[in-house]
Amino acid sequence: MRISQSVMRIGTVAVIAAVFAIGGIVTARADDLPAGDPVNGKRLYLADGCFECHGRAGQGGNFNYPVPALAQIALPVESFVAFLREAPNDMPSFSEQVLSNKDAADIHAFLSSLPGPRAAKDIPILNQ
Ligand code: HEC
Repeated sequence: MRISQSVMRIGTVAVIAAVFAIGGIVTARADDLPAGDPVNGKRLYLADGCFECHGRAGQGGNFNYPVPALAQIALPVESFVAFLREAPNDMPSFSEQVLSNKDAADIHAFLSSLPGPRAAKDIPILNQ
């Protein structure tokens, strides 16, 4: 009886320790990419030429074929940065030497802050 109680106690301690350890790992990962600064992100989006293909309002454009819109970006920041590092097809890649993880996170914050397209009901000429 006594032995099984102490075994259970050790088990409980192990579970609590594991929960804290996992919490620590999650916190550390979130720290890798700090919350982005949209003002600096806008500056970089213009300075690094993203706007030339993706449009000043992130509305998308054309470069040999249609270029996707980026306003209200749905990609999580980690996937966004990974995409920039090895962009496919006609999009140029941006290495960490050219665009740091922090700067990329700032661009992501800027893109998230863009309003994206207006609903048709909010465009007067479509509602006459
Ligand atoms: C020379 C034109 C060009 C420039 C400059 C450019 N892109 Fe792109 N981008 C593209 C094209 C083309 C695609 C579509 C790639 C494909 O074929 O899948 C794309 C795709 C993307 C995507 C994926 C979007 C989606 O919905 O799939 C992201 C994110 C992106 N670009 C971000 C950026 C950022 C940030 C910059 C600036 C640092 C940038 N791009 C600069 C042409 C460009």
